[in-house]
Amino acid sequence: MFRKQLLACASLMLMAAPVAANPVVVVTDNNVITVDAKKPGADVQPTMYGIFFEDINYAADGGLYAELLINRSFEFPNPFAGWDISGKVSLKNDGPFDRNPHYVRLAPSGHSDKHTMIENHGFFGIGVKGGEEYRFSLWARVPDGGNAKLWIDLVDNATMDEDQKLGNAGVDISGKEWKKYTAILKPKRTFAKAHLRVWGDGKVTTDVEHISLFPVKTYRGHENGMRQDLAQALEDLRPGVFRFPGGCIVEGTDLETRYQWKNTVGPVENRPLNENRWHYTFTQRYFPNYFQSYGLGFFEYFQLSEEIGAEPLPVLNVGMACQFQNNKDAAHAPCTKEGLQQFIDDCIDLIEFANGDPAKNQWAKLRADMGHPAPFNLKFLGIGNEQWEAPYFDRLAIIAPEVRKAHPEIKIIGTSGPNAEDQHFYNGWKAMTELKADLVDEHFYRSIEWYKKQMNRYDDRKFYTKKGPRVFAGEYACHDSGKKWNHSAASLYEAAFMINIERNADLVHMATYAPLFAHVEGWQWRPDAIWFDNLKSARTTAYHVQALYAQNKGTNVLPTTLSINGGKPSVNPVPSGEDGLFASAVLDKNTNEIIIKAVNTRESAQTANIYVKGVKKLAPKATVITLDLSDYDADNTPDDPERVKPVTTTMPVAADKVTSFEVTVPARSFCIYKIQRAE
Ligand code: AHR
Repeated sequence: MFRKQLLACASLMLMAAPVAANPVVVVTDNNVITVDAKKPGADVQPTMYGIFFEDINYAADGGLYAELLINRSFEFPNPFAGWDISGKVSLKNDGPFDRNPHYVRLAPSGHSDKHTMIENHGFFGIGVKGGEEYRFSLWARVPDGGNAKLWIDLVDNATMDEDQKLGNAGVDISGKEWKKYTAILKPKRTFAKAHLRVWGDGKVTTDVEHISLFPVKTYRGHENGMRQDLAQALEDLRPGVFRFPGGCIVEGTDLETRYQWKNTVGPVENRPLNENRWHYTFTQRYFPNYFQSYGLGFFEYFQLSEEIGAEPLPVLNVGMACQFQNNKDAAHAPCTKEGLQQFIDDCIDLIEFANGDPAKNQWAKLRADMGHPAPFNLKFLGIGNEQWEAPYFDRLAIIAPEVRKAHPEIKIIGTSGPNAEDQHFYNGWKAMTELKADLVDEHFYRSIEWYKKQMNRYDDRKFYTKKGPRVFAGEYACHDSGKKWNHSAASLYEAAFMINIERNADLVHMATYAPLFAHVEGWQWRPDAIWFDNLKSARTTAYHVQALYAQNKGTNVLPTTLSINGGKPSVNPVPSGEDGLFASAVLDKNTNEIIIKAVNTRESAQTANIYVKGVKKLAPKATVITLDLSDYDADNTPDDPERVKPVTTTMPVAADKVTSFEVTVPARSFCIYKIQRAE
């Protein structure tokens, strides 16, 4: 078995064949992957592979959240941002929703040829599909009483047709009271850059507020729902955990603008606008109209977690604004320790909102009123994001015990700061261990060179002790040095690194690649797992790597060693910083399948004999999933979404080799081999 073989299309054959310009040479390496199926090891946590969601890159408003209109409540600092106005349009601020008081008065122009109209640009335009239905809604009244008629047009401003309209509808408004009105629009053709016009009644003054447009077909049909293709991509990944709402937006640039979950629940019309720090964080990618409407709020996050089958993992503020942004301007940074009660309340009330009894708790009642009387079964709570040193440790030391006292059943996740190897990180782990955090959130957006040296990261059991907190690799992605965008090479090293995560499943309980989404016209941060434009989306190679792990996570680690060219078997024989072959295996107790993952980061294919110990016989056929990442710069885009994708085949297992089979792991690829015991 350990013999080095060189199988060439033999010279004898070449002699027999009259023309043989390029003889095929197959090199069979003497590599052995030994999987011990006798002793299934650590449980792979159901939460192991999941999703990190943050409203960055227009991930929420303009992205997953299916609302198509921007600034629907006229609450942006420039109340007409995203709108064109013509005729007699004025802004009022004593509307029906106290936390969003602005509305617009459309008055007759005074001349039959002049028109009062407001036109919404959407998020980089409004993407509509021909023949599909769109639900328009608004709140309106006729302030002087009586009846009015509004005309709603979806338009293509740039068309050479006589008529700009793609679809339209009329809405009859009556009476002095504010009421909600709806109409269905059905555009006649697909267009990514439509605008929406609301025409005032030519004769009667009309007030309008919270003007909204959603596709009727949202994910699972919710009216305040999610964009179908994007949410489906989340479900298809089969995530074990869904972390929200970030990321840095949890913290805020100052405490006033931190993410406050209580502002994100209840009727959407009355959820107050918040700024989005990603609008101004990078001046080289500035998006002045990027705000958080909170239409996608904590109820929707919990509901989505449930529907995609993931454990919800909210992260709440620890009483500190972003430390990066307040390094020089500490005045905005931390809440005083005495002022922390509201942060404690936020945690405890959130647990009640998610899990409490509606008959006993007002937040639980709100959940029921919003349509979900049953608990969401929250189990985890993150407190703080990327915070470091005493200001964080001291605050967590006050908040965490209170949360534990009220809800000992909830697992608390602390953070180890923004880096995964510096002194803040080590101090963070020490403090989290002392504070008895259940898990510690580690972040590493790093280069290929860094990843190559980290393939044994979680084998270090001097640092990651048996009894200490477990690891939540809460934000990570690989990028080539200086090449901070999506490409196959980065995904290849993520796949190789995740071998290390998987074989250390006793320690690592959660891992979430980040960020998740990016709008092609509105991004601030690359690489990302899913890219989209107004109509289309693409699951990148990074997504596919995550999905392949999540879809094949199994239930228990199977101890696995690799022997390279007859060398000593080891869990990872590849020297730090070098390319090579990486492998791990799990058992899925539910299907009785043995799942072996192998990543070859070399430029040439590598063969290996997979030997499964502890079984009498393997099934005669294995399933092979191959993600070929050899085209270094290649990745999927909304215009070319299928360029690189996993391919599933089957391979026979030779009858004489009852417990082993030979595989070829192609150059720079991630392969999964699934096989059942035959007994
Ligand atoms: O994912 C983008 C940002 O990276 C997150 O908001 C933050 O937590 C990290 O620094």
